[in-house]
Amino acid sequence: MNSVEHVSPGSWTYPGDQSHRYTDQEYWTDVARTAERGGFDAVFFADVRGVYDVFGGDRETAIRKGVQTPSNDPSYLVPAMAEVTEDLGFAVTRSTTYSHPYQLAREFSTLDHLTDGRVAFNVVTSYLESAAANLGLDGRMDKATRYDRADEFLEVCYRLWEDSWDEDAVVRDAERGVYTEPERVRAIDHEGEFFDVPGPHGCEPSPQRTPVIFQAGSSDRGREFAAANAEAVFCSQPTERGVVEYMDDLRERAAALGRDPDSLAFFPGIVPVVGETEAQAEAKYEALVEHVDVEAALALLSGFIDMDLSELDPDRKIEHIETDAIQGTMNAFTKSDPDREWTVREVAEFSGLGTTSPVVVGTPEEVADELEHWYREVGADGLNVKEVVRTGSLDDFVDLVCPVLRERGLLPEEPRGGTLRERLFGAGPHLPPDHPARQ
Ligand SMILES: Cc1cc2nc3c(=O)[nH]c(=O)nc-3n(C[C@H](O)[C@H](O)[C@H](O)COP(=O)(O)O)c2cc1C
Repeated sequence: MNSVEHVSPGSWTYPGDQSHRYTDQEYWTDVARTAERGGFDAVFFADVRGVYDVFGGDRETAIRKGVQTPSNDPSYLVPAMAEVTEDLGFAVTRSTTYSHPYQLAREFSTLDHLTDGRVAFNVVTSYLESAAANLGLDGRMDKATRYDRADEFLEVCYRLWEDSWDEDAVVRDAERGVYTEPERVRAIDHEGEFFDVPGPHGCEPSPQRTPVIFQAGSSDRGREFAAANAEAVFCSQPTERGVVEYMDDLRERAAALGRDPDSLAFFPGIVPVVGETEAQAEAKYEALVEHVDVEAALALLSGFIDMDLSELDPDRKIEHIETDAIQGTMNAFTKSDPDREWTVREVAEFSGLGTTSPVVVGTPEEVADELEHWYREVGADGLNVKEVVRTGSLDDFVDLVCPVLRERGLLPEEPRGGTLRERLFGAGPHLPPDHPARQ
C-alpha cells in the first residue's frame, strides 16, 4: 500500500524500517529499481477506502497504530516508478463501489499509455462501512449489490476500452487536417441499473487497451465475479489446501463460463523471511515477531471480517460466519484447514506477519525450494511476495533469493519485454478472445 503499513501491523517499529518514507517519491523509485533488478513482473498495490473503526467501535486504535492509515493514492506513484524502470508492471487496486467507470477507464488508459502497457487493474468492491459516508452514500452497499454494480462497472469499462475506438482511428493526416477519423470512434450508449454512459471513450487505444484484470473475490458471489473477469488472481490463504481449493473452484467456474480455465493465473501471497544461514533466518523471524502489534492486528482483522474482536475472549475459538466484508479472511481461519481450530489470540499473532499468507523462514535455498514447490506442485503461476519490514524484506529477497531462482531457471535471465499482459501470459497485448469482454 502507499501507506505506512499494509498487512504487518507494528512492523514500522522495527529498527531501521523505512515505511514512514511512503510520502517520498524517491522511496518508491528505489523500490521500483530493486523489484526490477530482482526480476519481478509487477508491483502489486493494495488500496483501501475508509478507516478501520470496527475494533472497539471506534477508529482510535487504527489511527494510533498506523493501521493502513495514513495512506495515499497509489495511482500517482506509477508514472514515477515507470520512469526509472523498463519492464516492471504495476497492479493498482481501485474500487468499483467508490468510483465511476467513465472516469476510471480514462485514468487507466492514461496510465497504460504512460507506461507503454505495464498496468493492471485490481478490481475490488471494498468492505469498510466508514468509506461510504464520505462518498455521499447512506451506508455500505450489501455484498450482492456491490458485485452487481461491479459487473456493470466492468461492462462499461470494457466497452470503452475495447469497442469505442478502432485501432486505426487516429490517422494524424496533416494534409487533410484530420487527426482522428470520426466514423472509427463509436458511442457505447450504455444505459443500466447503476450507470448511464453514452461514451465515446475520451482516450485513444492504449497498448493493452484493457489493463490486465486482477481480482481476489473470495465469497461465492465474489468467486463468480473473479471467474468471469480475472486474468490474474491474488489469493491469500495460510495453507496449500486452502489455496488449491480456491484455484480449483475458480478454474471450474471459469470453464463453466466458456473460458479456458488455464488462462487464469494465480498468485498466492507468501511472506518470506530469509537469512544467509538458518540461524540468521530464525533470529530475524524472532525479531519480526517481537515487533508484531497484536492490538493493531486485531484492529485490522476486525475491519477485514467486520466483527469487533475486542469484545471476544482471546481464548475463544473463531467460528465461521458469512461476512459482508472479506470472506477470504474468515475462510483462512475456518476452512483453510478443517482439522485446525483457531483462537482469537492465535489469529492475531499469526496475522501479524502478512495476515493470512504462509510465512516461510529459511536460507535462500530453503526459501527458493518452498517457492518452487508452490509453482511446480501446488500449481501457482507465480507468487505475491509480501513485505514485512520496508525495505529490508524486499532487499533480502532480491539479493538472496532471486539469484537462486534465476540459477534454477525459475526467473528469466533477461527481462522478457513487451506489455505486462504479454509477459504474464506469453500471448498478445490485448485480452484473449475467450475473455467475456471480447465476446
Ligand atoms: C487477497 C485479497 C486482497 C484484497 N485486496 C483488497 C484491497 O487492496 N483493497 C480493497 O478495498 N479490498 C481488497 N480486498 C477485498 C475486496 O474488496 C472484496 O470486496 C471483499 O473481499 C469482499 O468480497 P469477497 O468476500 O467476495 O472477497 C481483497 C480481498 C482479498 C481476498
